[in-house]
Amino acid sequence: MFVKVISFGVVFSLVNAQYSLPEDFTRCRQKDAKLNDCLKSAVPDALRRMKEGISSLSVPQMEPLHVSGINIESGAGPVVITQNYKNIKLHGLTDSILTTYKADLKNYRLRTDSLTPKMEFIADYVMKGRILVLPIQGKGIANITMVNLVVKHDLIGEPVQRDGQTYMHMKDYKVKFIPEKVVLHFSNLFNGDKRLGENMNAFLNENSDLVFNELKESYEKALSSVFQDVTNKIFDKVPMNKIFPEE
Ligand SMILES: *[C@@H]1O[C@H](CO)[C@@H](O)[C@H](O)[C@H]1NC(C)=O
Repeated sequence: MFVKVISFGVVFSLVNAQYSLPEDFTRCRQKDAKLNDCLKSAVPDALRRMKEGISSLSVPQMEPLHVSGINIESGAGPVVITQNYKNIKLHGLTDSILTTYKADLKNYRLRTDSLTPKMEFIADYVMKGRILVLPIQGKGIANITMVNLVVKHDLIGEPVQRDGQTYMHMKDYKVKFIPEKVVLHFSNLFNGDKRLGENMNAFLNENSDLVFNELKESYEKALSSVFQDVTNKIFDKVPMNKIFPEE
């Protein structure tokens, strides 16, 4: 009898341990003929509700989103710079809207394009290198602002079975950044030499397409892994049929 009571208790706590989406998130049904339209509005709405994070799912604060560090080694070409960013804060993600959504749940694939009016990347930086013919070096605060940033997201998932439930684990998350405009500012370039620093910041902005194109791939890689982690915080915990109900 005693044993029975204990095992009942264990079963009860396991059942309770099953996570679900926060109550106020819109659910989009798998068989909804307008599933893509539903997700197009539900996902940005969820993102806005995640500004402070979701503690029960260990989803971090999204506004701003903190990223620990990025190291960039840009090799050949016109921009050769070693950059190290720390204490990164991304502002503006939760103002994003989605312009298209393509969910292919049978193949565990989600594709969407987002538009972020203004994404600010603020971080402590250290850098050293050369842009075109000019040497550049500094250590201070970087502000890389992307205006009207289109991000193409490609989420490649796979089913994971656990405790009789199917979870949609994201094994890969690809992003492409297409900003309308990039505004760069690095404080304290050249050991704080004001004139050199101002000239270099002006030069970087006159050539921002070139500079950004050289660095884009590293930013994309770093941020896609951040997006993947946040997505999996939810998708690894909440069974797929609780995110996309079957009925
Ligand atoms: C970063 O730069 C943008 C564009 O110049 C500016 O609007 C924003 O206020 C700056 N943010 C910080 C924290 O300095």
